[in-house]
Amino acid sequence: MSVKTSTLTIDDKTIELPVKDGTIGPSVVDITPLYKHTGKFTYDPGFTSTASCESQITYIDGDEGVLLYRGYPIEQLAEHGDFLETCYLLLYGELPTAAEKQDFDLRVTRHTMVHEQMNRFFNGFRRDAHPMAVLVASVGALSAFYHDSTDISDPQQRLIASIRMVAKIPTLAAMAFKYSIGQPFVYPKNSLDYTSNFLHMSFSVPCEEYVPNPVLSRALDRIFILHADHEQNASTSTVRLAGSSGANPFACIAAGVACLWGPAHGGANEAALRMLEEIGSVDRIPQYIAKAKDKNDPFRLMGFGHRVYKNYDPRAKIMQRTTHEVLSELGIKDDPLLDVALELERIALSDEYFVEKKLYPNIDFYSGITLKALGFPTTMFTVLFALARTVGWIAQWKEMIEDPSQKIGRPRQLYTGFAERDYVPLGQRS
Ligand code: SDX
Repeated sequence: MSVKTSTLTIDDKTIELPVKDGTIGPSVVDITPLYKHTGKFTYDPGFTSTASCESQITYIDGDEGVLLYRGYPIEQLAEHGDFLETCYLLLYGELPTAAEKQDFDLRVTRHTMVHEQMNRFFNGFRRDAHPMAVLVASVGALSAFYHDSTDISDPQQRLIASIRMVAKIPTLAAMAFKYSIGQPFVYPKNSLDYTSNFLHMSFSVPCEEYVPNPVLSRALDRIFILHADHEQNASTSTVRLAGSSGANPFACIAAGVACLWGPAHGGANEAALRMLEEIGSVDRIPQYIAKAKDKNDPFRLMGFGHRVYKNYDPRAKIMQRTTHEVLSELGIKDDPLLDVALELERIALSDEYFVEKKLYPNIDFYSGITLKALGFPTTMFTVLFALARTVGWIAQWKEMIEDPSQKIGRPRQLYTGFAERDYVPLGQRS
């Protein structure tokens, strides 16, 4: 089969670069031979036009607002399946049969406890430490407790580490929450499903029985599905880069948690809710729209815009529906924050600035309202994002490790610093 190529002429050199087609989506120009043949690098800060890898896990069409996990539309997975089914799909590439699902659920359930000494590890934090700081540290600390699943060259250890990460991240997230509110840690309960168990570990107290509300548990489980993976976003790229050096999986996931924390990324759900609280009422929206449009003002509408989606984030639509479902189940008739969010969205989507720049609500715009209604403090929002995204990070890490062409990631640069110059002794500096 003839290889498609593109011709590039630089100075007096012309080279043929292979063009590779994917199943769907943009083709890529393979620039691997570029530096060797031309002595030139490509330059793409923020990787706006760069494919960092080949992957079969998640596909996004930003113009059409399409998101597929292993080919299945996010709308169908969120509607019909549960989060552990999505975990199985992302990790193994196919929807599980009934027997496979039962076995997978049991394997995850049986790994939800963390080493008892982890409790002492938490006590080193100030009580007012941000739960994301605690989560970054405790996920990294798993590599100090589970040496038997850190040899990345052993497929069995990779499998155990994957199950352990998916199983233990809710426990660590709940422990971070409990520690921040001064309540005792609650052990997992194997009789509960994954998300009900997380709600139990988060909201149960020794003094009284906590019975998870099935409607709320289903809603949060769906929110986890929406957040599970998203192609080569900043935190996933961080996990892949960390993993390319051979670092153990727990350290790689800790790096992903750290990157997700930023307000431009997973930290946007916390920032978006704080923004809605700061706006406070519908009549104050115009002044914030003006701030967002003012080039001299660093303010941005948090929860709006996306590097890939230049149409409505399909997850945001499902998120908005879930918000109404949760508020209705909780009997919250009118939430002032939701009123501000809906009016802010209506105004922004009809404003020339946002229309021209194709800025739409993203997954973080509505999630904060829902998570607050479920009883989580704002500081826990990104922790919940990290809980759900852990399976995506692990699936992408596993795909990278198992890719025979994989090598350590090592980008180059455009150097604009000083050319070589001689050292000046201290006494001769002016
Ligand atoms: C997530 O990558 C992923 O897939 C991420 C994620 C995932 O699941 O992993 O989807 C999760 O991180 C969602 C995004 C959450 N972040 C926010 O909501 C923060 C607010 N949004 C922005 O900071 C911004 O939109 C980004 C970071 C999301 C995307 O930034 P880009 O692609 O680098 O776009 P840009 O900054 O170059 O903006 C393009 C233009 C700029 O104006 P000009 O310089 O061209 O005149 O749009 C403007 C920006 O000023 N703009 C905004 C805006 N976002 C972009 N103006 C006002 N408010 C905003 N929110």
